[in-house]
Amino acid sequence: MIVCICRNVKTSQIVEAVKGGAKSVDEVRELTGAASCCGKCQFMVNALVTDNSDNEQVIYYNAAASA
Ligand code: FES
Repeated sequence: MIVCICRNVKTSQIVEAVKGGAKSVDEVRELTGAASCCGKCQFMVNALVTDNSDNEQVIYYNAAASA
């Protein structure tokens, strides 16, 4: 499934980035390009980061802080 329509980034690419060590939306953005355009996919990217990270120190995306 495509998560980021703007950059054509799939769920599997984001999960791979997280399994490879990405701990935040910003780190996934750097690795995949997801959430680097309109930003509408950021909530889904964040959910994939939190759901697939083994690390307890996941940096949660705070939408209110970036608005
Ligand atoms: S849908 Fe991901 S940046 Fe637009």
